[in-house]
Amino acid sequence: MFGITLRGGVGTLAVGAFVALNANSASAEVPKTPTFSKDIAPIFQAKCQNCHEPGSIAPMSLRTFQEARPWARSIKSRVESRQMPPWHIDRSVGVQHFKNDMSLSDEQVETIVRWVDQGAAQGNPADMPPLKPVATSLFWQGERDGYGAPDLIVKSPEYTMPAVSQDQWWRPAVDIEGLTEPRWVKMVEIRPSNINGRKILHHSIAHVVMDPNDVDADSVNRGIGGRGGDDDPAALVNARPSLMEWAIGKGYDRYMDGTGKLIKPGQRISWDQHVHAVGEAVTAGSELGIWLYPKGQEPKYRSYLVGFTGLKEGAIGLDIPPNTIAHTEGFTVLKENTVITNFQPHFHLRGKAMTVEAIFPDGRTEVVSHVDNFNFNWMTNYIYAENQAPVFPKGTIIHVIAFYDNTKANKNNPDPEQWVGYGDRTVDEMAHAWMNVFYLNDAEYQEWLAKRGGKPGIPVMPSNTQQQQQQ
Ligand code: HEC
Repeated sequence: MFGITLRGGVGTLAVGAFVALNANSASAEVPKTPTFSKDIAPIFQAKCQNCHEPGSIAPMSLRTFQEARPWARSIKSRVESRQMPPWHIDRSVGVQHFKNDMSLSDEQVETIVRWVDQGAAQGNPADMPPLKPVATSLFWQGERDGYGAPDLIVKSPEYTMPAVSQDQWWRPAVDIEGLTEPRWVKMVEIRPSNINGRKILHHSIAHVVMDPNDVDADSVNRGIGGRGGDDDPAALVNARPSLMEWAIGKGYDRYMDGTGKLIKPGQRISWDQHVHAVGEAVTAGSELGIWLYPKGQEPKYRSYLVGFTGLKEGAIGLDIPPNTIAHTEGFTVLKENTVITNFQPHFHLRGKAMTVEAIFPDGRTEVVSHVDNFNFNWMTNYIYAENQAPVFPKGTIIHVIAFYDNTKANKNNPDPEQWVGYGDRTVDEMAHAWMNVFYLNDAEYQEWLAKRGGKPGIPVMPSNTQQQQQQ
């Protein structure tokens, strides 16, 4: 089973060779006259209801025909433009296989569009699948996806955000309770500490505070530049090792098989929570769920979260005039052979698109990932399928190109008349690509290449296609 993303991939299994090239270009039949009961409800249950059910984060429930019908037009437009589900990565370039793909297949999009175009009929209620039970409280997405409950939960103290306020940064530090020996982390997830917290928590980062005498403290981020002082843009985001960066809409980070992050007793979690007022007072904090490797099991590689900068001149280089589309670029030289395992573009309200491109030492370039449709509400994390994680030799430059839309065409833009610069507030801007990476020595690098087509960059795995054809 190489390379295809099964979870969330309803209907992608039975569909022949195309799957290997694009997990969503399935060739299953699109029904001629789709009905809600027979054709649409199963898609909504699989791809929408986690969010579109009572008490969840979306504004309306899509469980029943009665609930969904009034939204038919809006559903068509969001689905057709691939705004919903919130999976905004470009489908024509870069890595195309993911562990956490929540997008619709082309057939599912076509089925929904046809259903709406033909009048959004209910069909025979007897065709309805049983209703999915509604979650009544917060949950861990990792648990829902079958990884069990987290082994450790670290909670930040709560913060009361008044109804009206400037943005706040809530930065308490807490112990990692229950950690009695060094352990390797396999997966992490951050969630607000209560349902209402979803309204005010814009992002939340859990940094590990290391003992400065610990030799490890120095080796973090050893593979990239960016320890060059305060005005160094890479240093701005990489000064401390992070376990996870969570933002609105983000699920969990599950590190690639054989990789993990080490935590030790005595270390603390320093929180960096960006809180945004919403017109009512809300009290909330964050919780970090940690899934561990079994005791004594040590992953081969240590994974680091790096924010590859999109700002070559640092904060000062971000200068977006009113009513313009602007762009910036950043360049980071890899000092070590590096495997990249995910992509999460980070911007604020003017963010529009981000390209991550590798410039190999021989001058060749390859696009690693491109999000063309960035939406501030959705800091989606695109976790690469295990056999699609690209590898780069030391000396490769990670080139991040960031585009900003400061015009009124950008629906998230609070004020196109403003000049926008770098800053922490939501109304300021920033641009970096969060990526978990791990480093290979030269022998490991050669071994890695040999197993993955012999070429650096995104692995070409023709065997994928054959495997799929045999199914
Ligand atoms: C990860 C959570 C999530 C998933 C999955 C998801 N949605 Fe949404 N959806 C939201 C949230 C939150 C909003 C409101 C914010 C926004 O518009 O981005 C929304 C907004 C919408 C809207 C716009 C509502 C309006 O105000 O006009 C439509 C339509 C929609 N979703 C349809 C769908 C459909 C159909 C699916 C599945 C194919 C889906 N969504 C999957 C969370 C989700």
